[in-house]
Amino acid sequence: MMSRKYDDLVPSPDPVSHRVRLISANWKMNLNHLEAIALVQKLYHLLRPEDFRYAEISIHPPFTSLRSLQLSFEADRMPFTLGAQNAADEPSGAFTGEVSAPMLAKLGVGYVIVGHSERRRLFGETSEEVARKAIAVQAMGMRPIICIGETSEQRRTDQTVQVLTEQLDPVLSTYPVKALEGIVIAYEPIWAIGSGESASPELVEEVGGSLRQLLTERVGSATAAQIRLQYGGSVHPGNAHEFMSLEAIDGLLVGGASLDADTFALLVKSC
Ligand code: 13P
Repeated sequence: MMSRKYDDLVPSPDPVSHRVRLISANWKMNLNHLEAIALVQKLYHLLRPEDFRYAEISIHPPFTSLRSLQLSFEADRMPFTLGAQNAADEPSGAFTGEVSAPMLAKLGVGYVIVGHSERRRLFGETSEEVARKAIAVQAMGMRPIICIGETSEQRRTDQTVQVLTEQLDPVLSTYPVKALEGIVIAYEPIWAIGSGESASPELVEEVGGSLRQLLTERVGSATAAQIRLQYGGSVHPGNAHEFMSLEAIDGLLVGGASLDADTFALLVKSC
């Protein structure tokens, strides 16, 4: 593929919030490294320069594809940011099967998802562990995307804000306030993930507003104003624009719809 020079394609901040939008592709446990390379090459080909100026686009493949994508991005000067889906809270040692933040930083990773509901639910990660992972990520100069979200039962019984507050609390109480400016919070209602039933924009705006209020109370308005908020859960090309238009929302964390280059390109363009 012809290399296009995209060095000038730095995303512009939103004119109102002054935050840089962030659209993230969470591939979960899908695609081998060859499929990963093919997907980003196609995606890059489908996107226009203005798509990269609208938002930063991070791609979060499984660990096995990180090195391949790092080399592809460099070789073809693709202005995607490399992302990971998890990191250990320890830098090294006898932790069989784990991958540490220093290892990810060495691969040029910019964002690391921590505390995805699948990790909390299937692998027993606690909010305290998630906070330690976020700190380990940030200590290596990367930015954590901290996932929070309520179950349908918690929503039905009106516990949403309480649950989200509890999930965020260890982060807000252990982080140095200044460092919080670099974090991204992804609001992903568990019932909306992979279900085809996204949250309504009204609900996301309401929860987003509550989260901004919580952040302002806990860390002050200057720091809170820097923290980016993503929405995730059954985002597709038909609803992405609505979420991106919300005042509280700065970005999207996309699962299923990021696994196909045509669909994800359409989603990004629709924003
Ligand atoms: P879906 O977009 O497939 O609902 O997944 C959302 C998600 O979990 C992203 O992290």
